[in-house]
Amino acid sequence: MEWWKQTSIYQIYPWSFQDSNGDGIGDLQGILGRLDQIRDLGVETIWFSPFYRSPGEDFGYDISDYTAIDPRFGTMEDCDKLIKEIHKRKMRVVLDMVMNHTSDKHPWFLESKSSKENPKRDFYIWRKGNGKKPNNWISMVGTSGWNYDKTTDEYFYSNFLSFQPDLNYRNPNVKKAMFGVLDFWLKKGVDGFRLDIFNSIYKDESFRDNPSSLRYFPTPDNHDEAFFQKKTYNLNLPESFQFAKEVRKHISKYKQKPFLIGEVSGSDQVLKSFLGEKADGLNLVFQFELIHFDYHAKFFKDLLEKNEKEFQAPFTPTYVLGNHDQRRYIDRLGGDIRKAKVLSAFQFLARGVPIVYYGEEIGRKEGRISNFLGKDPIAKMNRFVPLFLSNLLGIYINRDNCRLPMLWDTVENAGFSKGNPWLPIGKVKDTDTVSDQRKKEDSLWNHYKSLFQLRKGSAVLKEGAVRTKDTNKSDLLCFERVLGANGITVYLNFGEKESSEPIIKGSKVLYKFGGAAVVGDVFQLPPHSGLVLETKLKK
Ligand code: NOJ
Repeated sequence: MEWWKQTSIYQIYPWSFQDSNGDGIGDLQGILGRLDQIRDLGVETIWFSPFYRSPGEDFGYDISDYTAIDPRFGTMEDCDKLIKEIHKRKMRVVLDMVMNHTSDKHPWFLESKSSKENPKRDFYIWRKGNGKKPNNWISMVGTSGWNYDKTTDEYFYSNFLSFQPDLNYRNPNVKKAMFGVLDFWLKKGVDGFRLDIFNSIYKDESFRDNPSSLRYFPTPDNHDEAFFQKKTYNLNLPESFQFAKEVRKHISKYKQKPFLIGEVSGSDQVLKSFLGEKADGLNLVFQFELIHFDYHAKFFKDLLEKNEKEFQAPFTPTYVLGNHDQRRYIDRLGGDIRKAKVLSAFQFLARGVPIVYYGEEIGRKEGRISNFLGKDPIAKMNRFVPLFLSNLLGIYINRDNCRLPMLWDTVENAGFSKGNPWLPIGKVKDTDTVSDQRKKEDSLWNHYKSLFQLRKGSAVLKEGAVRTKDTNKSDLLCFERVLGANGITVYLNFGEKESSEPIIKGSKVLYKFGGAAVVGDVFQLPPHSGLVLETKLKK
């Protein structure tokens, strides 16, 4: 089985992981100094949010040079060292690749906007307006995607923010340039790319108006219908599905067998179109169902069954509880560590790739920075929306709050920086930190460590099919993982009441948490506990 189907991914947001030079911003040297800790946790693959040269208006998702390191984070030598040191520790490296758009300060765009005759003009999407916007397309952030440029009296298109102009993939030179960027990094040995808003790569060739819709708010797994518009002509185009295959083919020749994981959204049908009918498109896509979990056994049972049906082998589902754009899941659980253990156990024991956002392993909480004071450009756009209102509506506006610095220990600034952190650290208790949690056997950090290790050492957990079981108890989830004659049975109690189940003869406890135990001839499962058992399957 290919390595990327079996891996686990840990996302680092470089701004907030570890500062080494006291400027209050995380950097590559800082990450280098923490690699042993990441390895100790059991991480197999590290995905880095962008650290390329960038004006930083969207904190690195606005790139002005794809083959340079932003001086905030260090140098190319630091980066080479980082790749080498990660590999030395038997982990792999995934870079974030923003193919859809550049920064408006990228030399390509500066040339493109300088005149209609410039050879780079067609690197971006330009249209005449005749006094009005070229069509009705709304961007993913809810504004018109068209931006007027006085110099040439035309509009350029951006499917995200206006300082992030979209590249024109109908121009073969854009593809060539971007494949060159991928090659640059693949030759340095990186093991894959996370593709930012890959659902947006192509736009309709004849620029037809989008149909209207009754839906206003997008959700993490559905941007296709939002802001009263069906994004028929500016998202999820068949050309983007096709392009996924081209990129896959292009990178496949590299000996490290790199992979692609796409940030796309939509129905399972859409996700599958990105993966390719013969599993020849993107290797993986983010599946965001867990971002809006309902903490009930039934939700998780349904999800397992749905993924077994829709994403059966050779496809591999992914399980995401959070990222740098979403409210942290611990806050969605009201800070309850017991529940966090159940959720993360589900994430690691299901068939698929678990993707952990830095800080989840210690229950790092959200900030409470108002939209008005936000540094995030989305917060700036919505600065007059009070935080309580956006919370009430269930929309996430100020992404600063999920990007707060990592909590390492209780010395100055939680060990993150000796300077003034770019975002506030907040009050830090001993028990919130990595250093304290490493010492305590029943901490969340040690639970994550056990999960990483358990999965790493078990072919059944990495490859085995899933069979859900009926427990007749609405709060108790039970499923089996099956590979040949080997099985693993998982019990997760989502309820407030203790549950007990008859023991499975001949089974062996591989892992337990939350007070779960084998007592006489029953498995005892206190509220929010879990039990993982090795079982021999009947022939
Ligand atoms: C999705 C990224 O996850 C987000 O952080 C970024 O702002 C947009 N794409 C634009 O690149």
